[in-house]
Amino acid sequence: MVKKEYQIIAKNYDLAGRASSDIKRTLKSMNTCRSLMKRVCSSSYEAEINIVIHSYGGYAIFEMNDHEIRLEFHDDGPGILDIELAMQEGYSTATEHDHMNGFGAGMGLSNIKKSADTMDLKSTIDGTDLILTFKITGECYDED
Ligand SMILES: Nc1ncnc2c1ncn2[C@@H]1O[C@H](COP(=O)(O)OP(=O)(O)O)[C@@H](O)[C@H]1O
Ligand SMILES: [Mg+2]
Repeated sequence: MVKKEYQIIAKNYDLAGRASSDIKRTLKSMNTCRSLMKRVCSSSYEAEINIVIHSYGGYAIFEMNDHEIRLEFHDDGPGILDIELAMQEGYSTATEHDHMNGFGAGMGLSNIKKSADTMDLKSTIDGTDLILTFKITGECYDED
């Protein structure tokens, strides 16, 4: 069982992606197969960037046991007004400044939905909570 926690700082474009890089390093050290690693890392990156560009700041928790990888992302608001709309491909409230930094294509949440085995997204004005799980199957360790 591995458990790690990361602070995610709002509007800090230099540190953006740092938690996801460490998660990737951890998965590599656990010999996680490439396809699972890709799904986990892309989801983790999108969720982390969302906290950086859209929220007042938050944190992530990475947990892994023999059967499952679990990612949690929590932030302090302002929350997602309409989750159904936010989940749509291409929908984004990102600013010009975000775009200049290479963020805000509006594909983050929809890609997370495709990548994770389960996705639980809840949001109020006080914050957004995103919990993702990825199953670790036997075959996974045989490839790559
Ligand atoms: N943690 C968050 N806090 C507030 N709003 C969010 C958060 N994550 C996503 N959103 C909202 O959902 C929209 C869609 O997110 P996403 O699909 O990742 O696209 P993008 O981040 O490129 O805008 C965002 O533009 C934003 O309005
Ligand atoms: Mg995003």
